[in-house]
Amino acid sequence: MSTQSGNGARRVTTGDLREMKRRGDKIAALTAYDYLFARVVDRAGVEVVLVGDSLGQVVLGLDTTVPVTLDDMIHHARAVRRGVERALLVVDLPFLTYHVSREDTLRNAGRVMRETQASAVKLEGGSPEMAAMVSALVGAGIPVMGHLGFTPQSVNVTGVRVQGKGDGGRERILAEARRLEEAGAFAVVLELVPRALAEAVTAELSIPTIGIGAGVGCDGQVLVLHDMLGINTEFRPRFLRRFAEIGDAAAAGVGAFVQAVKQGEYPAAEHTFE
Ligand code: KIV
Repeated sequence: MSTQSGNGARRVTTGDLREMKRRGDKIAALTAYDYLFARVVDRAGVEVVLVGDSLGQVVLGLDTTVPVTLDDMIHHARAVRRGVERALLVVDLPFLTYHVSREDTLRNAGRVMRETQASAVKLEGGSPEMAAMVSALVGAGIPVMGHLGFTPQSVNVTGVRVQGKGDGGRERILAEARRLEEAGAFAVVLELVPRALAEAVTAELSIPTIGIGAGVGCDGQVLVLHDMLGINTEFRPRFLRRFAEIGDAAAAGVGAFVQAVKQGEYPAAEHTFE
């Protein structure tokens, strides 16, 4: 099945991602939170644009994703939608919007789909209860991406650490991944897990795995845009490669503006209407 964007371009579908896994083609995914960056990311050729609830930290200045609301997600996803023509647009369901009851989960995910025109939602965890929510969402026509390993919405319980290290942890994550696939998820994000475990999950599932801090053996990779562009200058975890230094460039540009204004050097004649 294919879908079309407003300008007639063919959009990436969940079926395309599965086909990419089958062919061994790597999937590139990045987050976006606003219109202009969404356009940059989409035009660069990523297959998935994720409106992550990491917007809590990188856009709203919060310490964790926990305080992010459904309205925050919808507000940003609507802007991102306008910038994405080709990629599959996935929106995170925030903390406690998919735990309380099946009805509540369907209502909240339904709002995201209707109000943002996203193609899918993402949720965290792989317990039997969560698999039941995934299956209800998929049954209602809402594609779901899973998220296992370190799940940021549970940071107050787990802390930030690599997950699935011991035998028990490894088996738990493998079981959760199988459960999500059986429930109908179309892909699973694996965050902060050892490379060997990510490879085992990737080999076992027929749906794609998208890694972040999970090594090169996943079917694809995702990063938070502000981290990989070096906008968030203080954030330097081991798994992160910075592909640009936009934070430093922005600070230099703003500093140059302040100086030029104070020295009366800006605006110059060419910026002035006589
Ligand atoms: O919120 C987010 O940005 C995410 C990615 C880190 C996968 O969930």
